[in-house]
Amino acid sequence: MYTDTKLEEEIAAIDLMGPEPSDEHSRELYYIGKLRTLIAERSKEAGRLLTACTVTFGCQMNARDSEKLIGILVQSGFAPVETEEADFVIFNTCTVRDNADQRTFGRLGRISHLKKKNPYMKVAICGCMMQEKGNVDKVRKSYPFVDLIFGTHNIYRFAQYLWEVYSTDKKATHIWEKTDQIVENLPVERKFSYKSGINIMFGCDNFCSYCIVPYVRGRERSRDPREILRETESLAQDGVREIMLLGQNVNSYGKGLENPITFAELLDEVCKVDGIRRVRFMTPHPKDLSYDLIRVIRDNPKAARHVHLPLQSGSDRILKRMNRHYTKEQFIELALKIREEIPDVSITTDIIVGFPGETAEDIEDTLDVIRRVGFDNAYTFIYSPRRGTPAARMEDQVPEDVVKEGFNKVLTAVQESARTRSAALAGRVMEGLVEEVNSQKEGYVTCRLSNNMIVHVPGDASLIGRFVPVLLEECRGFYYFGRIVEE
Ligand code: 5AD
Ligand code: SF4
Repeated sequence: MYTDTKLEEEIAAIDLMGPEPSDEHSRELYYIGKLRTLIAERSKEAGRLLTACTVTFGCQMNARDSEKLIGILVQSGFAPVETEEADFVIFNTCTVRDNADQRTFGRLGRISHLKKKNPYMKVAICGCMMQEKGNVDKVRKSYPFVDLIFGTHNIYRFAQYLWEVYSTDKKATHIWEKTDQIVENLPVERKFSYKSGINIMFGCDNFCSYCIVPYVRGRERSRDPREILRETESLAQDGVREIMLLGQNVNSYGKGLENPITFAELLDEVCKVDGIRRVRFMTPHPKDLSYDLIRVIRDNPKAARHVHLPLQSGSDRILKRMNRHYTKEQFIELALKIREEIPDVSITTDIIVGFPGETAEDIEDTLDVIRRVGFDNAYTFIYSPRRGTPAARMEDQVPEDVVKEGFNKVLTAVQESARTRSAALAGRVMEGLVEEVNSQKEGYVTCRLSNNMIVHVPGDASLIGRFVPVLLEECRGFYYFGRIVEE
C-alpha cells in the first residue's frame, strides 16, 4: 500500500463527526475517513484484515477505473487480494458486446456460494453494464445477494456507497443518467509499478450506429491538461516509465475546454515530462486523426511506434451505415501516410463482421484493406446487436452461418498479415520494457516493444520495469522469442 501524505493531510483536516462536505472530492475523503474506523472494527470482529478484490471486464478505461476502486478500498482499510474468495468483491463490467454481459453473469453466479460461506462478504457490481436498466433489474432479481449496484457516472461516489452498505448492512442501488463532473485526485492503487493509464477524457459523442458506449459512458468530457500533466509528473516521480493516455476518441480531446488544446499538443507536452520513457494512447478515430498528430509521433522518440486505428469495415456502404464518417480509400490513405511518416510503426485495428446488411462483397472490401494496409495485428469481432442502438433496429440482420464464413475469411487474412509483418522484424534489436515473469515458460520474462509487440526473453523478476535491448530471434506468429543483448 502506498501512503500519500497529501491525502492523509486532507483526510485529517476533515471533521469526520460533522456533516458531509459539499464538494465531491472532500466528500469522498470524508467517507474514506469514516470507513477506516468501520472497516477496522469489522476486521477486529472477524479476527483478520478484511480483503477486497476487483474483477474487471472490458477495455483499458475499465482497468484504470478498477485501479481507482481498489485505491478507495485500500485507503478504507481493506487488504487487496487477487481472488474472489475475498470479503468484498466488486465486478467492474463491460457491455460492448453481448458475450461480455454473459461472462459477467456467469462469474457472478459462481460466487453466490462463497457469500453463503462468509458472513463478512459483500458483493458489488458497477460499470457499463449497469447503465442499462434491464441488467440492473436482472441483477436484483436473479442475483439477490448483490449488496451494491452503481454505474459509470457516479464512480467517484464509491466511498460514500461503500459506507452506506457497511454502515446500514442494507442493499443499495445508485444509477445516474449522466454527469458533467470530473473529480480529481482520488486515491489510486496501480496494478503495475512501471506503467499506468491516464484518463484524458470520458464519454463519447460519435454515435457509431452499432456502439453502446455513448449511451453508457455519456457525453464527451476532457480533463484539464494541467491535471493530466500533474498526474503524469507524479506518476514519473513514483517510478512509472510508460503511460497510456486513455479516451474513447482521443482525437476529440480538448474541444470543450476553456482553453482548447489539441490531442497532438497534449501528447507533445506529456512526452516532455522527465522520467517518462514511453507514451501510448488509445483510441484514435480515423475520421479525425490529424497530420499534426502523425508529426508529433514521428518527431518524438518517446511516443510509442504504434497506432491502433479501428477500421470496423472496409466497405463504404457499411461504413456509412455504421456512421463512421470515412471511406475505404480515406482509411487506406491515412494508414499509408502513418507508415510513410513513422518508420517502424505498427498499425493495429478492430474489425466487426456481420453488421446488418453486410454481404460477401462488403467482406471482400474489408479483405482488400487488410491486404493493402498490412495490419500488424487486429481484433476481429462478430457484430452483436446492442439494445437502443440504431443498428440493432436495422432490418437486415445477417444470418449466423453467413457471419461465420465472413469472420473466418477476415481472421485468416489478419493472421497472415500479422505473421508477415512480424516476421520482417527477425534479427532486429529493439528496446523492450520488461513487464512480467512469463507464467508459461520458466526462467523467462515478457517484454513489450514500442510497437506493442511482445517478446519473451530469458530473465527474472529483477528485470521488471527495466528497458532492455532485445534481439528478436524466433517469430511465433505475432510474438517473438529472443534475448537481451548488451547495450
Ligand atoms: N458488436 C461487435 N463489436 C463491437 N465493437 C463495438 N461495438 C460492437 C458491437 N455492437 C467493437 C469495435 C470497437 C471495439 C472496442 O469493439 O470494433 O472498436
Ligand atoms: Fe466496454 Fe465500452 Fe465500457 Fe470499455 S467503455 S468497458 S469497451 S462498454
